[in-house]
Amino acid sequence: MRILVAGRQGQVAQALLRRFAGHEVVALEPPELDLTEDSSVARAMRAAAPELVVNAAAYTAVDRAEDQEALAFAVNRDGAARLAAAAAAIGAPFVHFSTDYVFDGRKGAPYLETDAPSPLGVYGRSKAEGEGAVLAANPRSVVLRTAWVCSADGANFVKTMLRLAAEREELRVVADQHGAPTFAADLAEAVAAMAPRLLAAPAGDAAFGLFHLTGAPHTTWHGFTAEILDQAAQRGHKRPRLAAIATTDYPTRAARPADGRLDCSHIRRVHGIQPADWRRSLALCLDALVGPAGENGL
Ligand SMILES: NC(=O)c1ccc[n+]([C@@H]2O[C@H](COP(=O)([O-])OP(=O)(O)OC[C@H]3O[C@@H](n4cnc5c(N)ncnc54)[C@H](OP(=O)(O)O)[C@@H]3O)[C@@H](O)[C@H]2O)c1
Repeated sequence: MRILVAGRQGQVAQALLRRFAGHEVVALEPPELDLTEDSSVARAMRAAAPELVVNAAAYTAVDRAEDQEALAFAVNRDGAARLAAAAAAIGAPFVHFSTDYVFDGRKGAPYLETDAPSPLGVYGRSKAEGEGAVLAANPRSVVLRTAWVCSADGANFVKTMLRLAAEREELRVVADQHGAPTFAADLAEAVAAMAPRLLAAPAGDAAFGLFHLTGAPHTTWHGFTAEILDQAAQRGHKRPRLAAIATTDYPTRAARPADGRLDCSHIRRVHGIQPADWRRSLALCLDALVGPAGENGL
């Protein structure tokens, strides 16, 4: 399979490169591929002549987006739509990622794909508008809404907690934001599972559209941290005390949804894809970062 991945060093792009090793994969990011430039997208598409295009590129700086609204929209809405349209022009299906931050978190139950977006900040708005723009630009698109993405690559929550655990005697982590960690490798696996059907299916097929996919089970950042610290301790890592705090104790520039849980049953029904147990995926991630359990790899 010939695949063009937008994004290269990002968490999801790296996981896709690993999962699709053995296929013809071209993964590009600026300056080779800039989603905000027509000519850059056209050139990359011509050179790669892909059968499948996956957009793992995004403006993901949630707090900075509050001050860089134009750039966030240029990448997350207009850039995503530009790439989706270019894929449509050569008959290639398109896979795109979005976020639970398109919701305000006030539903009090896991969100369905049919729930209307209600973003709290610029990043969430740019991603929400990107979803619609992508689906309009290429009807053979899959938009995967996910959350709390982690991996052994790039900067993310797992790596931050490991670093702080080594430095501090106590970690204070918010316990009133609900969601589900999602490992990039599991997202890449889902793309691989869907790909053959996406290549064959015509526009209008149930394979395309908006889908929720996170890890399972649901937890809080505090619950996630407890598991990270437990599993790291099994690998010889120092285990600091863990204190539960409220979101109000940890103010951020952009507001986050207090309960961004996503119901993932639609993707199970249509594609047979089950949410991966993030605790198992975390173990694989820590194997890569720290070493296997029972060894003091740090
Ligand atoms: N991280 C999360 O917790 C999370 C949660 C929910 C959904 N998602 C979504 O999942 C997807 C992948 O996220 P991720 O965590 O893998 O992101 P990431 O690690 O921040 O990587 C994003 C990639 O996009 C590239 N990029 C930025 N601007 C670009 C542009 N104008 N043209 C081309 N490439 C550009 C970046 O390159 P540079 O480094 O050179 O800028 C980087 O390679 C995104 O759609 C994101 O919105 C992420």
